[in-house]
Amino acid sequence: MTLGVVILAAGKGTRMRSAVPKVLHPLGGRPLLRHVLDAADAVGAARVCVVYGHGGGLVPQALADADCTWVEQAERLGTGHAVQQALPVMADVERVLVLYGDVPLIEPETLNRLIADSGETGLGLLTMTLPDPSGYGRIVRDGSDRVVRIVEQKDASDQERTITEVNTGIIAADRHRLAHWLGRVDNDNVQREYYLTDVIGLAVADGIEVVTAQPERLEEVAGINDRVQLAALERIHQRRMADCLMRRGTTLMDPARIDIRGRLECERDVVLDINLICEGDVRIGAGARIGPNCLLKDCEIGPGAEVLANCVIEGARVGAGARIGPFARLRPETEIGRACHIGNFVEIKKAQIATASKVNHLSYIGDAVIGSGVNVGAGTITCNYDGANKHQTVIDDGAFIGSNTALVAPVTVGADATIGAGSVITSDAQAQQLTLSRARQVSISGWQRPVKK
Ligand code: UD1
Ligand code: CA
Repeated sequence: MTLGVVILAAGKGTRMRSAVPKVLHPLGGRPLLRHVLDAADAVGAARVCVVYGHGGGLVPQALADADCTWVEQAERLGTGHAVQQALPVMADVERVLVLYGDVPLIEPETLNRLIADSGETGLGLLTMTLPDPSGYGRIVRDGSDRVVRIVEQKDASDQERTITEVNTGIIAADRHRLAHWLGRVDNDNVQREYYLTDVIGLAVADGIEVVTAQPERLEEVAGINDRVQLAALERIHQRRMADCLMRRGTTLMDPARIDIRGRLECERDVVLDINLICEGDVRIGAGARIGPNCLLKDCEIGPGAEVLANCVIEGARVGAGARIGPFARLRPETEIGRACHIGNFVEIKKAQIATASKVNHLSYIGDAVIGSGVNVGAGTITCNYDGANKHQTVIDDGAFIGSNTALVAPVTVGADATIGAGSVITSDAQAQQLTLSRARQVSISGWQRPVKK
């Protein structure tokens, strides 16, 4: 059976009070619509069509890499009309599943259950029962508990409004029949809209079985209309990811104080302290520990490494057993080798540092290649930028750079060389030798301090 998924995303999103289309607002660092596209993918959709609204051209632009067809619904004439716009794209599928761009937490398992339960010909309807059903379409059943139709709140009688089983909006149906029913739906209702929900009554009239299923949890079918609801779902989503990490063997000092805005993969026995923010793709190796208040973005932390409090690591790789921070900043294209120590107030950019080297205090290392067993003294700076171009600094294995050295690139320090503290190194320093470039210390005997006239 080939499955097509239609995602409705033509809502104006007025209540977001935003210049950004609603379905592009991020949840867990990714647009709402991206979550729904992932769900469509997870249920094996052969074809996906997103119906976006007039003036919503930003949406296809922002998600240009998505494997789906974009269809504009020029006029917002109702959910039935919206689904109809997508049907030409669905010509080669047998079953159609309707999802919503602003309902991001729907679980593939729930959808698979709905698809399986409704079989090849049935109409699958995802419903829920709410203590306060106001606003939703009500599921009307007959004396034998069979679904008869859906009535929208605005069109419902007082009697019907007491029904607590409501429509989530998610349905699965035979593509051919759905097209037929939608062709017969009119807008003869309070809202003057073509209701998708009217196909239920038409299916029943055609003798098609309406099969209902319920989501495991209500948040799966919660829609987002404003930023308060967005924030509430963000917390639920974060908690879900935290639980998932813990089940896979990661210790979280507090599962309520981690934010994953992208993907985080941890090997076993990783320990994450509080207030960690992960962005993009982050991978952490077995047994590594991340201290409190760190920001990790698109980076890889090796097994057994330790990132101490308040570090910012972006676009960098940290080798096994290395120790970073506290208060260190690793910037893009940085590779810290095995067992290196990078200490407090050290900034490293586009630099490779081999095994067991140390840059422990107050340094800037940029555009550099540093060997193994190098010790970079406190306050050392690579002067990599001449105001126009960037230049490289090379420090070979075993070198010792005295404190407060300025390495004026391009420059090379040879293996096992020693640089005297306070030097400004403007030409290459030979291997094994002591190089220093500071004024010799003098003492002037008999010198008198000036006195006030
Ligand atoms: C709809 C259902 C209702 C259900 C509720 C669940 C209908 C007629 N009613 O009501 O039974 O309980 O959802 O939340 O379907 N959309 C378009 N184009 C349109 C109209 C809507 O893309 O022309 C999209 C909206 O962006 C939104 C979704 O469809 O994501 C639902 O539309 P909305 O008008 O909010 O329907 P409800 O009144 O909430
Ligand atoms: Ca709605």
